[in-house]
Amino acid sequence: MDRTAALCYIAVQTAPVPLAGIALNGLGSGDRTIRQFVYISTAPSLPEGDVDAIVETAVRNNATNGITGFLLYNGRNFFQMIEGGQAELIVLMNRLAQDRRHHGMVRLYDKAVEDRACPEWHMRRLRLVDDLDQRRDNLRQGLRDALDPEIRQMVTNFATLN
Ligand SMILES: Cc1cc2nc3c(=O)[nH]c(=O)nc-3n(C[C@H](O)[C@H](O)[C@H](O)COP(=O)(O)O)c2cc1C
Repeated sequence: MDRTAALCYIAVQTAPVPLAGIALNGLGSGDRTIRQFVYISTAPSLPEGDVDAIVETAVRNNATNGITGFLLYNGRNFFQMIEGGQAELIVLMNRLAQDRRHHGMVRLYDKAVEDRACPEWHMRRLRLVDDLDQRRDNLRQGLRDALDPEIRQMVTNFATLN
């Protein structure tokens, strides 16, 4: 299996959907539902400092816009979970889709939820240490209990792919 095919298998139950235009399922105007959205994208060889700069900007903007979530980068691909009000999420996703630091966004998960899984993380970077066992341990301890097991499985698969 090549790498692209392998990434597609990260989506355990949800079929991955390439993002041409950005639209959330069932968006209604004025709806204050919280939505969780997970995607992967490609960004070969971004320096660590650039990834940290992305997170810094994200934290600043997300705190204003009521967005929370987490981000992983494995040297070739991003995995991001963002959650927030539908209107704010759609604005962010359109900005993300235009950001030239990555490309090929593929949706893995998109659901309305009662409560946020990561209410205190305006954007948390989950770092991937070299040692695989340590990586798994870090994720086990680092990921919020409230996270949907489906997303947890996707993160674990992404983090242990290479
Ligand atoms: C992988 C990735 C994840 C990002 N995540 C966020 C995010 O969660 N929130 C955000 O505001 N910008 C995020 N950005 C940056 C946006 O694409 C965009 O550059 C930024 O929102 C512009 O903000 P500024 O106008 O304050 O510079 C991300 C970019 C990349 C490449």
